[in-house]
Amino acid sequence: MTITMRAECVFFILCFVSNTRGQNTIIDVAKNLGANTLISLIKDAGLTETLESDGPFTVFAPTDDAFSKVPSDVINNLKNNKTLLTEVLKYHVVSGKVLSSDLSNDMTVPSLLDNQDVRINVYESRFILKIVTVNGCTVIKPDQEASNGIIHVIDRVIYPIPSENMIEYITNRPNLQTLAKGFSSAGIEDIFEEGGPFTLFAPTDEAFQKLPEKTRNLLQTNITYLKEDSQSSK
Ligand SMILES: *[C@@H]1O[C@H](CO)[C@@H](O)[C@H](O)[C@H]1NC(C)=O
Ligand SMILES: *[C@@H]1O[C@H](CO)[C@@H](O)[C@H](O)[C@H]1NC(C)=O
Repeated sequence: MTITMRAECVFFILCFVSNTRGQNTIIDVAKNLGANTLISLIKDAGLTETLESDGPFTVFAPTDDAFSKVPSDVINNLKNNKTLLTEVLKYHVVSGKVLSSDLSNDMTVPSLLDNQDVRINVYESRFILKIVTVNGCTVIKPDQEASNGIIHVIDRVIYPIPSENMIEYITNRPNLQTLAKGFSSAGIEDIFEEGGPFTLFAPTDEAFQKLPEKTRNLLQTNITYLKEDSQSSK
């Protein structure tokens, strides 16, 4: 009698365990959350099995609405280039179980994409509800528990994956050329090489044009003045 009961008990527990495994993986939870585009792209990239494995993983999951805001040429690129698609999706996944309460402002967390970091910001004050962002995308539904990890639903797709440093970014943007020339003629391009992360308020070429001519001339001719100006905006 006792033996039978014990056997039933074990059977029950086994069923329960295999059910949680079978039905509440990150993929299942994403499905329940209505993240259909994400699931379909994960499938295209061949990452479904990974996200159904033990993990654990933490996924920053863009909603369908988030994907619908991505320009169609970018979506086409993702659909036609599996390497790119895989990179972008891996950049939305972090190894381990990371709850929103584990996240703090200016934290960087390595993603599954070659350990490239995602950047977390937490905005909190007496006047606003706590806002968590990942690379500037807002977490709109945090801490959705799956059997093999956690999903934080986000309102935008993290794209493109940041690959340029500050100076490369400025140099590659056609509307930031005055600033780029400024950094190079002041010889202070290396100020971004150590430390960080940095926030740069980058005036556009148009913004520079709005400066009084005298100031502009000074910036162009007086290296000391230029250095002061760029360092105070560092
Ligand atoms: C596909 O994406 C990879 C990774 O971003 C890139 O290196 C490669 O050039 C792309 N291929 C094509 C054909 O665009
Ligand atoms: C250049 O700028 C510095 C710092 O503002 C100032 O002290 C210096 O007088 C300026 N030199 C000239 C030649 O205008």
